[in-house]
Amino acid sequence: MTQQTITVIPGDGIGPSIIDATIQVLDKAGCNFNYEFADAGLTALENHGELVPQETMDLIEKNKITLKGPLTTPVGEGFTSINVTLRKQFKLYANLRPVLSFKGTKARYDNIDILTVRENTQGMYSGAGQVVSDDGTQAEAMSIITREGAEKILTFAYETARKEGRKKVTAVHKANILKSTSGLFLKVAREVAARYPEIESTEMIVDNCCMQLVMNPEQFDVIVTTNLFGDILSDLCAGLVGGLGMAPGANIGEDCAIFEAVHGSAPDIAGKNLANPTSVILAALQMLEYLEMGDKAEKIRNALIDVIASGDRTTRDLGGTHGTTDFTEALLDRL
Ligand SMILES: NC(=O)c1ccc[n+]([C@@H]2O[C@H](COP(=O)([O-])OP(=O)(O)OC[C@H]3O[C@@H](n4cnc5c(N)ncnc54)[C@H](O)[C@@H]3O)[C@@H](O)[C@H]2O)c1
Repeated sequence: MTQQTITVIPGDGIGPSIIDATIQVLDKAGCNFNYEFADAGLTALENHGELVPQETMDLIEKNKITLKGPLTTPVGEGFTSINVTLRKQFKLYANLRPVLSFKGTKARYDNIDILTVRENTQGMYSGAGQVVSDDGTQAEAMSIITREGAEKILTFAYETARKEGRKKVTAVHKANILKSTSGLFLKVAREVAARYPEIESTEMIVDNCCMQLVMNPEQFDVIVTTNLFGDILSDLCAGLVGGLGMAPGANIGEDCAIFEAVHGSAPDIAGKNLANPTSVILAALQMLEYLEMGDKAEKIRNALIDVIASGDRTTRDLGGTHGTTDFTEALLDRL
């Protein structure tokens, strides 16, 4: 079997430390990957004068599989978000963000298993048409949803539900107010739902969905929604299982995929050995499943479950007193 090469972007802030922890875990589990490292984000701006150098784009394109740390996009300096750029460039139309309860976390719930499937390239979040008038008194942005884009993400959500043996898909929208964009998404959601009679299909307005997620999250299985709503709802879902340290995300396109944590570069804890590496490790497990290496993913997941449940050397966000390196050691010991 040829050795799989993975493009690795360590990223900014806590990125390099949690990516390093993840690679140690993958290696210890015997994944036998070859890694090619690339810069993006503030690190790339400092080293190469641009946020996403062409070499990085070329490596993502060449290897097709990327494991990425969080990137800092400077705010309000005319920079387009790097993540949005990568998702558009590589047509990563589906963003899969699963959250699962782990025993031993400080989460409010212990029985959560929700997969948010977020459309990743369209809608308000894509940043299309952003302008501020010369006198600074008016700002505009454009939100575009296409039938093709909606159909693709909805079909992806149902196919994923079918593959994972999930029972219910909830389409989340705001079609009562955003009648054109959310209206089209909902219309297509109803059409796609009709093709999957074996899966229960429900729909929910996004504001009610937020309240329902906090009050009664057990009712959700798969949530499928547009870009901006998916961005916000998936952080809410992370909060249900113990916070952003527990939430991974996979960005999937036709032939390219980027795996990352849901969270950002956490500048408040960067360089302090405090970050919980679980989100990126869980993203690496999504990568292993994508590569049909489910046995390795299972092995690492079991080790994670054991470390977190026992509280052995866990990080502060999990209720422990240890740092990234001790937590990683605990995991390596299990493996
Ligand atoms: N995918 C990405 O690359 C991505 C995603 C979101 C934000 N960002 C960027 O990250 C930067 C910081 O954003 P922010 O502060 O709003 O959000 P953040 O997700 O970086 O942090 C939010 C809070 O969660 C905590 N946190 C995050 N990850 C953690 C972990 N692994 N372990 C323990 N605690 C953790 C942080 O300490 C902070 O208190 C911004 O520049 C933003 O653009 C990048």
